[in-house]
This record gives sequence, C-alpha cells and structure tokens, in this order.
Amino acid sequence: MTNIKPHGGVLQIRMESENDIGRINKALTVSKWTVSDIELIGIGGFSPLNGFMGEEDYHHVVKELRLSDGTVWSIPITLQVSKEEAEQLDIGERVALNGEDGVTYGVLTLKEKYTPDKKIEAQYVYGTTEEQHPGVKRLFESGEVYLAGPVVMVNRPSHEPFESFYMTPEETREMFSKLGWKTVVGFQTRNPVHRAHEYIQKLALENVDGLLLHPLVGETKKDDIPADIRMESYQALLKHYYPKDRVKLAIYPAAMRYAGPREAILHAIVRKNYGCTHFIVGRDHAGVGNYYGTYEAQGLISQFEKELGMHIFKFEHSFYCKKCDQMASMKTCPHTNNERFILSGTKVRELLRNGECPPPQFTRPEVAEILVKGMRKDK
Ligand code: ADX
Repeated sequence: MTNIKPHGGVLQIRMESENDIGRINKALTVSKWTVSDIELIGIGGFSPLNGFMGEEDYHHVVKELRLSDGTVWSIPITLQVSKEEAEQLDIGERVALNGEDGVTYGVLTLKEKYTPDKKIEAQYVYGTTEEQHPGVKRLFESGEVYLAGPVVMVNRPSHEPFESFYMTPEETREMFSKLGWKTVVGFQTRNPVHRAHEYIQKLALENVDGLLLHPLVGETKKDDIPADIRMESYQALLKHYYPKDRVKLAIYPAAMRYAGPREAILHAIVRKNYGCTHFIVGRDHAGVGNYYGTYEAQGLISQFEKELGMHIFKFEHSFYCKKCDQMASMKTCPHTNNERFILSGTKVRELLRNGECPPPQFTRPEVAEILVKGMRKDK
C-alpha cells in the first residue's frame, strides 16, 4: 500500500450483491450522473461519504468546504428529485435507484428530504448563477428536493469499451504497492494529453515513483472530446513516449462538474482515495469559459493542502517555445506569445474537425492522428 491513508481514515466501501438486499418496494429512475455518484460512493472513491449528503453536511460543504465534522469536502454530493417523486417516499424507507436502462445500481436508505436554495449553492460552489455555465445549468435543471441517506451499490455500471482500464481505489492501492511505488502523482484530465500536459506530468514524474493517468470518462459537456477517442490517444501516447513501468492508465468514472477551484479539491481528494500521494493542478484546472482565474484553483487548494496530507504540484501555463526550442512555462521562458505554440481548446477542436493535425509542438503526431480520425468520424 502507498503510505497515504484514504480521506477521513478508511475506505468506505459500500457494495452489496443484488441478491442480498431483499425486497424493495420503491424505486426511482436516476440520471447517468447520479449513477456515477453511486458508483464512486460504492467503490470508496468518495470516502468518507457513505451516501448522499444530508442537510447539515450540505450547508457546511457549500459555505465552508467542510463536512459537519470538519473534514475537508468541496462539492455537495446530492440526489435531486422532483417534488412529486419526493412525496411518494417515506423517511426510513429503502429506495432502489435504477438507471435509465432499468438496472438497479444502488439502494438508498432515506434519512432526510430537504429543499435547498440552489442559487446560493451555484454562487458558492460554481462562483456564478449564470446558466451558460454547464455545472450551474445542470444544477438548475435537476429536481428541487434533495434526498439523503446511506447508499449501497448493488450493480456496477459497465464501462465498455474501457473495462480493462477499470480499477477501484482498493485495486490501484494494491497495484502501487506491488509496483513498489511509495509516491504516486495523480493526473486528472477531460482532454487529450497534449505536449503541455505531458511536460507537467514528466516534471512531476522526475520527483515521484509513478504517475496515475486518471482521465475522467463520466459525463462531460457536448463539445469536449469523447472518452473513447481520448482513451485511444492516451494509449498511443504512453506507448510511444512514457516509460512503461512508471505510468499506469486507469479511468475515473465520475461526471465533470466544471467547478474550477472547488472541483480541483474534489479531484485531489478522490485521487487520494485511489492511493495518490501527489496531485497536479495546472492552469485553470476544471475550468470552463472565463469563469475562473488562471491560478484560482491553485490558490484555493493551497489553503487545504496540509489538511489533505497530499503534495500538490502546481504548474504555470506551459507551452512549446520556438526560441527556447523546448517546452517551457511563464516561469522559465522570457519570450513573447509570438514565439509560443498556444492553442485554445476551441481552436484545437476546430482544427481536428477540419481534418487538420495540430502542430507537433502542440500535440504528438501519434496522438494527433487518432484525434483527427476520431473527430472526423464524429462530425
Ligand atoms: S480538467 O479536467 O482540469 O478540466 P484539462 O485536461 O483541461 O482537464 O487539464 C488537466 C490538468 O492539466 C489540469 O490540472 C490543468 O490545470 C492542467 N493544464 C492543462 N493545460 C495546461 C497548460 N497549458 N499548462 C499548465 N497546465 C495545464
């Protein structure tokens, strides 16, 4: 095992066999997003949470970034339903949580129902109440009543075609220990890995035993590059440019919240549960549009770093500089943007859709080829 303890001290693994849960009379159909939350609760990724948050924890998290017992937690993990659905359910009752495919993924023991002020939640958690923000939009579109209580996962969602990259926190911890990795840096991404990502990963890798490349494959916004194309590109990149025995690729099955600084903390906590001792927060981590400052996530997570017990590698905006003739960052390169290869996500997607490869200084050719092929197909 790596030395790091799970958040809150122990992995809260909450899995039961569907055969053992007995008869349950009430059922709710929940979104894919909620199914991914059930899964993260079930496998211990969201430790120390054992279910959907009650009102007291919720208010503490929204306003103070802590559970009511003081443990650091930055984003509410909640189950939203309509008023009509909530009225059908009684406190103390067990409720089957079914996916849109009819499979029962979880069972909730209902402890509380409450109706929070979502505007306050949006302002505190996302820093805005604008509905153009994808996280806020989803929050406002979801049901008005929150159900809370302990959850067990009774069926794990399938992650085909990435099943071979699926690992639970227990499994990654065991793998790190077998590999003899005492220090492991976690890397969150919802994008293909470009040269700037590679650069900061490798800078980190100079200082630790191993890298867990942990791309988020749950729900993302429509214009993000789909997970199947990304997974193919990660494998090509690792094959051609990374030392095999120092990097492992596994999927992170969560939904993307786009909550910037708050989500950086959640991302770090979950990777700690997976056994990472270190975590990378670069430029505009988990950001969207211009909602967050470039280094706001680094600033916020720094306030909690000690309590998290992880080392956060914070990197400045990185790029390839023609004049330096190498990868560099604002910290190390004295030249102007005219000398640097800096492309926005929108620009990269536009290139790919037109069948054009981003330049090799921006994206490795083996990666670019897969992205162009995938995005053209996807058009
Ligand atoms: S996200 O999940 O954080 O939205 P993204 O792929 O955009 O995914 O970024 C992954 C990580 O790399 C984040 O920590 C982000 O801050 C960092 N990052 C992305 N691009 C750069 C860059 N050019 N320079 C430095 N850090 C970067």
